[in-house]
Amino acid sequence: MRRSRFFCFYLFIGILVFNSCAKVDNNARDFSFVFMTDLHLKPDSTISSAFDRVIDTVNSLGVDFVISGGDQVYDVMRGNVQRSDSLFQFFLEKKKRFNVPVYTTVGNHDLFGIYEESDVDSTHIDYKTGMYQRYLGEPYYSFDHKNWHFVVLNSLDVQDKKYIGKVDSDQMRWLKADLAEIPAETPVVVALHIPLVSAFKQVYPATGSDEAYHKPMVINRSEILELLQQYNVKLVLQGHLHWLEDLAIENHTHYITGGSVAGRPSWRGTRHGPQGFLHFHVSGDEVTWDYIDYGGGKSFRVN
Ligand SMILES: [Fe+2]
Repeated sequence: MRRSRFFCFYLFIGILVFNSCAKVDNNARDFSFVFMTDLHLKPDSTISSAFDRVIDTVNSLGVDFVISGGDQVYDVMRGNVQRSDSLFQFFLEKKKRFNVPVYTTVGNHDLFGIYEESDVDSTHIDYKTGMYQRYLGEPYYSFDHKNWHFVVLNSLDVQDKKYIGKVDSDQMRWLKADLAEIPAETPVVVALHIPLVSAFKQVYPATGSDEAYHKPMVINRSEILELLQQYNVKLVLQGHLHWLEDLAIENHTHYITGGSVAGRPSWRGTRHGPQGFLHFHVSGDEVTWDYIDYGGGKSFRVN
């Protein structure tokens, strides 16, 4: 009798220890991160103080890291090394103020000297992603966090001295090899600037004058989507449109276009909703999010 009481006591203690270990294990897998896109930074006092407010807000959230969805600067497409250097240097100074790692993505406004009116040509060392790489590193890469896999793609290329949405063949080969390394059940997040999937064109049909703005979608998206469908892709995080959108495809992969930090490209008021960014909360294999309007509904407008 006494022995069975001891047995029950130790069994009870064992269950308690097991449960608390399981909780610790689950909590250890939880994390949060920020996705912010279309920062369009330039040395301007209003933009500088508004972005400081963004940084302070992010630092107060206690997230593990930040992903920037592109258009870090505004802009370097027309060349001018000196001015373009100063824009990237301004971004780097701001990046240092985050107290967590910031993973960046190539945006169209980050492409150096690609436009017709540029004072450099394609032989320049900083051409296209050259300057971005000099300041921010590889244009596409992946990393793991807890048991999640994150892929950052370069969705931009140049054709006829204009940017297009495209993931080139070298990068497609890399992407296939990168995803082939992970177990099929691993939750995956993909970040890129030009959207793969969006209802933007249905909501705002092109009117002619703004056709260039409506044109960009990733032109080889079919082969990318076909590849991604073979994996447990939970989120595809997109930028460029300065529009907040969440499309749940087959109730599994969420294609989220992340609003914008800048509002209008030149920070002259809001565009398609408040200036803000997304805060993601990951628990095990599940993820939820909210949009943080860092101005509390107030637009940071540059005159
Ligand atoms: Fe943008």
